Amino acid sequence: MKNLRLLLIALATAANANAAGPTFTIDATHAAGKVSPILYGLMTEEINHSYDGGLYAELIQNRAFLDSTKSPVHWSVVNDVGSAARVELDTNAVFNDQLSASLRVTVTQADHKHQAGVANDGYWGIPVQPKTTYRATIIARAGAGFSGLATVSIVSDDGKTIYATQKFSGLTTDWKKFKVALKTGRGTPTTRAHFSITLDQPGTVWLGLVSLFPPTWHDQPNGFRQDLMQMMVDLNPKFLRFPGGNYVEGDTVETRFEWKKTIGPIEQRPGHPGPWGYRSTDGLGLLEFLQWCEDMQAEPVLAVYAGYSLKGAHIDAGAGLEPFVQEALEEIEYVIGDPKTKWGAQRAKDGHPAPFALRYVEIGNEDWFDKSKSYDARFAQFHDAIKAKYPQLKTISTLGDDQPAASWVKSRKPDMIDGHYYRSADEFLRMSPGYAKKYDRHGPEIFVGEWAAYETSFPPWDKQSKNEPPTPNLKAAIGDGVFMAAMERNSDLIKMQCYAPMLVNVNPGGRQWRPNLIGYDVISAYGSPSYYAIQMFSRNVGDEILAAVTAETAVQGCATRDRRTGEIFLKLVNPQTNSVSLNIEIKGVTALESKGSAITLAGNSDDSNSLAQPKKVVPLTTTVRGIKPGFTYTLPAHSIVVLKLRARR
Ligand code: AHR
Repeated sequence: MKNLRLLLIALATAANANAAGPTFTIDATHAAGKVSPILYGLMTEEINHSYDGGLYAELIQNRAFLDSTKSPVHWSVVNDVGSAARVELDTNAVFNDQLSASLRVTVTQADHKHQAGVANDGYWGIPVQPKTTYRATIIARAGAGFSGLATVSIVSDDGKTIYATQKFSGLTTDWKKFKVALKTGRGTPTTRAHFSITLDQPGTVWLGLVSLFPPTWHDQPNGFRQDLMQMMVDLNPKFLRFPGGNYVEGDTVETRFEWKKTIGPIEQRPGHPGPWGYRSTDGLGLLEFLQWCEDMQAEPVLAVYAGYSLKGAHIDAGAGLEPFVQEALEEIEYVIGDPKTKWGAQRAKDGHPAPFALRYVEIGNEDWFDKSKSYDARFAQFHDAIKAKYPQLKTISTLGDDQPAASWVKSRKPDMIDGHYYRSADEFLRMSPGYAKKYDRHGPEIFVGEWAAYETSFPPWDKQSKNEPPTPNLKAAIGDGVFMAAMERNSDLIKMQCYAPMLVNVNPGGRQWRPNLIGYDVISAYGSPSYYAIQMFSRNVGDEILAAVTAETAVQGCATRDRRTGEIFLKLVNPQTNSVSLNIEIKGVTALESKGSAITLAGNSDDSNSLAQPKKVVPLTTTVRGIKPGFTYTLPAHSIVVLKLRARR
């Protein structure tokens, strides 16, 4: 059945337009507005193990022994019939004052053949890829008198296979950093493995930090997972909004995203408890966020902590807020300051002398949650300080177009306002035709900084969401499609938009939210239908908006044109259970090249992708013939179609 549907798509031929019936009419006589060149971007925060156990390629979970003060979680004893050891947290013998605990490994019985030590289970397993080099960094010291060898290995969970192993010597009573390369041989990829460090003689060893990295994107040290980066690059993002979301606010003032604690060598980063129920290593810190932008050729949209935290604490505008304003100004200096400035020099010392290009600073996150109503004054204090020092920067208010206009910031005119839209697919179908039509074109620019369609009858924050798959199905992607079409139609005003959350570790316990765009475990990843819908939209967009209206149909869509090439992009979303023969009328062009192409995402509305079936719902590109200014095109049921046409010049 599915193959038949794909065959029908592949054979698509445009027919002559009918006079009546479902119609999509495009006015190509002139542009109705300019498409924002930075319309499509990405939003990120540490949620669902997006970084630790996700994009940040570190493989050791609880690498600095700070995840729990009670026990060394994710670490366990390794021994056999002829060896014995015990492990405990030690808060006295610590590597430095940033890492407040170490792991004491006491081996009471061991020899060369019967080693004992400690193992780490990683983020739901350690991935083993064939013919791959993994790089371990171990900060360790030994008790007096220890003269043995340490063995570092990646081992199958049943203990039968050693995928890679290497010894190191030189443990003394002083803390030292050891670097060990572990090379795997041939074999089948697996996640059913763990990492171990064992000793060949009795003695005590303290571990201050243990890190293991696979090959990273562009081989960057402390870098990113290659497959996830590629998937993001493939979305052609023009910006990255970071570091949150709730993550910038923290549950409390003390657990906000305190950027200064996220820079420098990883052993200088203590990490912090995040608002999503687990601790962050901050291995992916401010500089890594910026490098991530650079790697994707996307501009940073930096959110700064603005004096409100999720559990309700706020700091009123005035002298008490000033240290936080300074913290934000210094953060901006780290991003864009000349290396002669204090924080620009720090960035250079950290490895990036060139300033990054920053244009937008978001002040806080979802400050409509602040019951004290202090945001207007807090915004003003940040806005004034930022504009005084960096007049070129644009400020974003978090009271956006999703909130009643009466609640918006009044004391200043934000350059942009950020609205968040988590809506059911059905709600997006209802609201998208009228979305943004009524907005004042002279008002602040609009950022839709978080949005996603859900296919369930309950919202993402309902506890029933836990029972649903981590990523959405095609029905949700249809909702995403109509909302994206609405934003693109209005992208003279909607300057930026980004889906949220983007990343999810699909292992049990890995996520706190659904739906999410990209799912993964420690070794593989897949895109949801929504991922492909966004890819279809973001990679096929012109720079001029063409006015488009539909008649007698539930199909929604938008049209843009590339002024330089004359290419016209029609985006059409058919939410119905039946196919639709759509009359497409393009006014203002005398002739079109008869051959164009169609990219189609279609299937049953409950079809979805998963680790087991990563490509069940993916776009298919086909050639379309017989195109003219008036033609009929058949959209499959439940489909998103991008038609690419060329005006004859
Ligand atoms: O995207 C998940 C959460 O939704 C974000 O952290 C927050 O900004 C919003 O409420």
